Amino acid sequence: MKGIILAAGAGTRLYPASLPISKILLPIYDKPMIYYPLSTLMLAGIKDILIITNEDDFDNFKKLLGDGSKFGINIQYKIQYVQKGIADAFLIGEDFIGNEDVALILGDNIFHGLGFSTLMKNAIEHNIGATVFGYKVKDPERFGVVEFDRNKKVVSIEEKPIMPKSRYAVTGLYFYDKNVCKFAKELLPSARGELEITDLNKIYLENSMLNVEILGRGFTWLDTGTHDSMLQASNFIQGMELNKGEKIACLEEIALNHKLISDKDLELQILKYGKKNNYYNYVSEIIQEYQMEQGVLV
Ligand code: G1P
Repeated sequence: MKGIILAAGAGTRLYPASLPISKILLPIYDKPMIYYPLSTLMLAGIKDILIITNEDDFDNFKKLLGDGSKFGINIQYKIQYVQKGIADAFLIGEDFIGNEDVALILGDNIFHGLGFSTLMKNAIEHNIGATVFGYKVKDPERFGVVEFDRNKKVVSIEEKPIMPKSRYAVTGLYFYDKNVCKFAKELLPSARGELEITDLNKIYLENSMLNVEILGRGFTWLDTGTHDSMLQASNFIQGMELNKGEKIACLEEIALNHKLISDKDLELQILKYGKKNNYYNYVSEIIQEYQMEQGVLV
């Protein structure tokens, strides 16, 4: 399975903060926002990832993540020159996807919860066409909204409805089978001039190929599109990390635990960052713990 991160938005709602740099490179507490969706894909076991950026930020993303080898993954990049909507990712990414299944995650979506990795792996294994995730929110009119019948079967899916038929928002993480590029080509721009991901999901629904997994109370989903939601996300991550002494979305830690890179390579890699850095001090501790567990250090 391939993975795509859509990180091309202008982020106008966060101006002036996101005027000189993509909002997806701005920090959520102690790391750039893109670390979170990238960690989600890595936790799903996806190693081949395409990042779609806007023209101005292309070099910045490359500077941060390179070809992905420092995390033991392969990262490629493409530019979305005109903002044509989320489903445009499948037209831009068609060659990259080839004949494989693909996961798409929006660059400003943060997921956290016990067992999320297993949930995603199960979703990938049992995918009958498309799998999306529903999450109960206070303000469903801001999102794609999914309606269920009494048997929890999906009845409808609507983009930003004025009168939402449920409180379940469709989150910005989607798994699709290899038909996705073909279906994306059938889409027409919506009233706001975009190729809507909701319209793509509707095609899967009409073909009885859409599965919606509910993320229950044990999960947190944060979309960081506004000043308040960004600060809220930072506070949440800070609270969780200080409480447990474990970082969320530390890509080096995930890479080490999934054996994507070796402890020795990681040790060499972080040497250059010195000792006065909270993030890399943490990585250094993780390496030591790992080596103790492996019996390398006695
Ligand atoms: C987009 C999708 C919407 C989805 C949301 C999740 O909204 O169109 O269906 O619920 O992402 O973050 P937008 O970012 O365009 O407001």
